[in-house]
Amino acid sequence: MGKEQKYPNLFKPLRIGSVVAKNRINFEPTAISCSNADGSVSELDIAVYSEIAKGGYSMINIGGCTPDSKTGRVTVTGVIIDEDNMIPGLARLVNSIHKYDALAIPQIQHPGRQCPMPKDSIMSTNDMVVKLPWSAGHEIVFANAEEKGKEIRAMSTEEILNQIELWSMAAWRCQAAGADAVCLHAAHGYLMSAFLSPYLNRRIDRFGGSFENRMLFTLSIIKEIHNKCGDDFPVIVRYSANEWVPGGIDTEESKKIAVALEQGGAAALDLSQCIQETPGAGFDPMQYQEGWTIYSAEAVKPLVNIPVIISHALRHPEYCESIIAEGKADMIGMCRQALADPYWPVKVQLGKPEKIRKCISCLTGCWQESLMAKKDIACAINPVCGDLNFYNMDKKKSSRAMKVAIVGGGPAGMEAARWATLRGFKPTIFEKSNELGGAILGCCLVPGKEKMKWYADWLRHEIRDLGVEVNMNHEVTLDELKSYEVVLNATGAVSYVPEVHGKKERVASLEEVFACPKSSCEFYPEGSGRTNRKLGEKVIIWGDHYGAADLVAFLGAAGKDVTVVTDKKEFGSTVEVIHMYVLRKRMAQSDAEALESRPYKYPVKVFESSTLSFIDDKEVTIIDSNLNKTVIEADDIVTCYTQSNTALADIFEKVDAAGIPVITIGDAKSPRNLHAAVKEGASFSITLDPDYCVKNPNGALMDNLPMDVKEQLGC
Ligand SMILES: Cc1cc2nc3c(=O)[nH]c(=O)nc-3n(C[C@H](O)[C@H](O)[C@H](O)COP(=O)(O)O)c2cc1C
Ligand code: SF4
Repeated sequence: MGKEQKYPNLFKPLRIGSVVAKNRINFEPTAISCSNADGSVSELDIAVYSEIAKGGYSMINIGGCTPDSKTGRVTVTGVIIDEDNMIPGLARLVNSIHKYDALAIPQIQHPGRQCPMPKDSIMSTNDMVVKLPWSAGHEIVFANAEEKGKEIRAMSTEEILNQIELWSMAAWRCQAAGADAVCLHAAHGYLMSAFLSPYLNRRIDRFGGSFENRMLFTLSIIKEIHNKCGDDFPVIVRYSANEWVPGGIDTEESKKIAVALEQGGAAALDLSQCIQETPGAGFDPMQYQEGWTIYSAEAVKPLVNIPVIISHALRHPEYCESIIAEGKADMIGMCRQALADPYWPVKVQLGKPEKIRKCISCLTGCWQESLMAKKDIACAINPVCGDLNFYNMDKKKSSRAMKVAIVGGGPAGMEAARWATLRGFKPTIFEKSNELGGAILGCCLVPGKEKMKWYADWLRHEIRDLGVEVNMNHEVTLDELKSYEVVLNATGAVSYVPEVHGKKERVASLEEVFACPKSSCEFYPEGSGRTNRKLGEKVIIWGDHYGAADLVAFLGAAGKDVTVVTDKKEFGSTVEVIHMYVLRKRMAQSDAEALESRPYKYPVKVFESSTLSFIDDKEVTIIDSNLNKTVIEADDIVTCYTQSNTALADIFEKVDAAGIPVITIGDAKSPRNLHAAVKEGASFSITLDPDYCVKNPNGALMDNLPMDVKEQLGC
């Protein structure tokens, strides 16, 4: 393992109290929300966590375990550890982590004011009404709710004392299940954090007011855990080193907290950021750059002798190695990176960092469409994450190199080609442009979305390394497709101009504006030869969804005077909520916490529930749902309305009629997002049965047909 020396510090062991982590890479607490409805550990919990342990993370935090399901379950399917009958399941999970020599560390978390269950009589440190539209995804939020907030009530002293007992009993159960340590969740505005925070804690009793009083809840719990589990049972505390609200915890306060926690018996400190009022800093959408939180570890580490763990947006091995080498922190932590690629540590150790599928911080799979939607964990770019159909893939190897035509070289097509090749099929990609990547490529132009290109490049390298046959600059023909056994329509979506009176020809397409000239790209060192359409000063963005949001970010940063016209009630309602939070701040010429982008020259104006009714040479008429009209000047109008690409519909129909199944996926089925494209591409290829490739009456491919049914259907 000569290559290991490139990152020697990352692979040094680290003592945390009485236990030793085998390396410096921590899987941060993550509420994967996959347990059974009764809170017991599920098969999926074991699959997700044990794979991350297998990949070489030395500490596996089991996120979101509630000590008291009666007053606060963290997510609707989070782990519950408030009864002894949860110990056997937890022990199975711990064992599955120990199998790969990682430490198993449940994170004890009470959601307090950010609680999904129960829905009322929600406890916190005080009675403040919480109005958090993005609220941690655990809130009960109805689509049509104007007020996405809820009332909370201050805990009585009796309830606080009861919680101290419940948290310490939960830790005892973790120890009984074989866990190596526990982590206390004292960050992000949840219950323990609400005690620490001078902004959230408005109590006037022993548990509020002075610094000592605000620390009392956490320190009492550490003390009681040690009473029940022994002084050598390590307790790690994760807290927000900066809450980014006036009057909240800042760096100076976080230093005091660190010292107090060490004195109170904490075995390590895991520094995070934010409360739910400042979600940008807590969940790091794409705009947050790697390394932005290191300042907090640098501030705290010199003051304590216990290990300091730092996380948030860490992705590159060289950078992570430098954090440890330069003594800025003792351990680095990853949450989403481990979901996007559980094998980050072993790929780094074996000197294959280019094989890492870097998390692009999109928050669509793991947040918007998982926790926010009350579903199991998922990842937009890793279809395996949270899906039992994908684990144990090696059992799905095919005995036959089935010929698969994949029309369209975007993410859906490439992901399908990747899995098809891995299964032993023979896929060919037909791409009519001169580049693989599809809709992702336009993102290179959008400030803050450069990470999308990481994924495009990763896919392109995988396609190259797997030796997938690619026909670029090629419009596929009927005759060509007829030589395949199955055809995948992954041709994506295209923009269109809705009906409008006047000069429709003035409307530019999203694709023209986002045609990336690629002046400095590995795939086009001398440029792609493309030019993107230049726009005048005043631009109307007509439409919604990701394309429109990206265009706002691109044109706003370029100093254009932008007006959005959307027929939706709320602009960006289908875009990931924390990205929209950052974008809205920028539209108002400010920025989200901890970011410092150059303010847009003009505020972005938005007409909701509206559309264009008339386009003149210079002026455009906007009409709202009450038929009110507004006339504004516009140099250019760009449509962001998209529909599935039907350019090859005739050919596909004929192929299907010839008995070769055509399956449509991704945006070609209906315009959605990267998550849908990747999942459907991968699912297509794992569903393919080389013995029997037939669609059912619903048009879906069948898989896992029983032997007798195959026989009956004439296979
Ligand atoms: C789906 C999801 C669930 C999370 N659950 C928890 C949790 O239970 N406890 C916690 O301390 N942080 C939680 N976080 C925050 C992460 O641990 C981490 O701080 C954040 O995602 C930024 O780091 P990353 O870039 O490595 O993901 C969660 C984040 C995500 C995206
Ligand atoms: S869904 Fe996006 S942010 Fe979440 S883990 Fe996957 S790539 Fe990262």
